[in-house]
Amino acid sequence: MRGNVILCGFMGCGKTSVGRRAAKLMGREFCDLDQYIEEREGLTVSEIFARFGEEGFRQREAQAVEEVAVRPGLIIASGGGTVLAEKNVSAFHRAGGMIVFLDTPLAALQERLKNDKRRPLLQVPDRRKVIAQLHAKRSPLYHAAADVTIDAGAPPGTVARRLAALDFPFSEKKLDNGPKSR
Ligand code: S3P
Repeated sequence: MRGNVILCGFMGCGKTSVGRRAAKLMGREFCDLDQYIEEREGLTVSEIFARFGEEGFRQREAQAVEEVAVRPGLIIASGGGTVLAEKNVSAFHRAGGMIVFLDTPLAALQERLKNDKRRPLLQVPDRRKVIAQLHAKRSPLYHAAADVTIDAGAPPGTVARRLAALDFPFSEKKLDNGPKSR
């Protein structure tokens, strides 16, 4: 069974756009975790935050991770907060998944997210500052969760090709060795 490839990283780093393209290149099924949660709940992520708070969203996210982690051979675009919870990282690894951090420069993220209306954590007055603060806090955690880091400052098609080029030897090697111990 092929282990899953899980994309992690900051909001706007390209997890979904890269994931879709890479899935085609790699002949894998694509799964977007936020979309999975939305379909499961019949609510948008914003509605879940509004009704149940961030804590309520995180509980639903952890449940979704448990469910998708055990499906074989997927490329999974996680949410920007998913791998910040150790239990989610463990669930992905336990099922043989490999976590890839799409590392994108702060300035590029600020530019990509400047008009965002969809992400609850970014509907704040000083968005650039909030992004910078969250980015500083989260970057070490993405690095720690990931088995491999890809420079994701390039357009999604380029990053997808970088990812696809890793796939076969990467998965084989990592699956033989088992996931990084933590
Ligand atoms: C979040 C990122 C979002 C979504 C939710 C929380 C975060 O996903 O899961 O709004 O904590 O960074 P994207 O990274 O796909 O925007």
